[in-house]
Amino acid sequence: MRCAYSLMVHGGAGALENVKDEKTAVRYLDSIRRILEHGREVLSLGGSALQAVEQCATLLEDDPIFNAGCGSVLNEDGRVEMDAAIMDGQNLLAGAVAGVDGVANPVQLARLVMTKSEHVMLIGEGAMRFAEHCEVPRVPANYFYTEDRIAQLKEAQLRHKMMLDHDEAGDGVSEDQKYGTIGAVAFDSNGNLAAATSTGGIVNKRKGRVGDSPIVGAGVYADNETCAVSCTGYGEEFMRTVLAKTVSDFIFMQGMDASEAADAAIEYLRRRVNGRGGLIMIDNEGRCASRFTTRKMIHGWIEHAGETMLSF
Ligand code: GLY
Repeated sequence: MRCAYSLMVHGGAGALENVKDEKTAVRYLDSIRRILEHGREVLSLGGSALQAVEQCATLLEDDPIFNAGCGSVLNEDGRVEMDAAIMDGQNLLAGAVAGVDGVANPVQLARLVMTKSEHVMLIGEGAMRFAEHCEVPRVPANYFYTEDRIAQLKEAQLRHKMMLDHDEAGDGVSEDQKYGTIGAVAFDSNGNLAAATSTGGIVNKRKGRVGDSPIVGAGVYADNETCAVSCTGYGEEFMRTVLAKTVSDFIFMQGMDASEAADAAIEYLRRRVNGRGGLIMIDNEGRCASRFTTRKMIHGWIEHAGETMLSF
């Protein structure tokens, strides 16, 4: 039976305080629309959910306004350490990389881990050695280190110092700096589901810190029996609640649809860890849902080959 495809992408959740004017908002939404239209073409021509999420996540990584790929934020040493994962709901195959630098598209490297290695996750130097083995081209340092990202790190470090000096509440990093991540979930015309998530992590994070994005079951999950999920938010909270798999479990064990499972998972995230962030998901009938606990989440979707929808 052929199904009408569905697709969702997100560009992160947070207060998005940097998006104060309409022009900036339009810039985000135009990018989301362009990427959804690309995904529509892939899926309408019979491409797989896996191809659609890899290509959409690649385009999101290639747009510097998002915190992934070339737009990745910097860690405490002023370095990029990116995390990404991809998962195929047909067979539960997954690939992930963590703490990588010097590649333009960590999601593509994650897919290579899935298809060309016997492992699910490779990190740091080992992941980069594998990239070399797969002849993934290296990009120069100036591909990542934009003036904006350097200024953002300095601001975060300054605020952190001020927080210690004045014992302010919070961790001194504004919301929109915290939660950037990109992701895509898709349902193809053969009824297969796939998910991908990629991020530069959190501004001023400790060297070696890994968030939820590359962790199967936390920031990403796909199973044809249930749903495909990509999360964005304060990674530690999504790891502690294993949120993406929790969404899937609500469907598997309680027979929920996308909307009910998204509600239940976000209620759990909020109640158990006061979690900050959100998720996009498509269930095994191609129904789309999104929920977030932050003020905003940049995302868009195409449900059952219908109109392109955008939300901010
Ligand atoms: N959710 C992205 C991160 O915490 O790294």
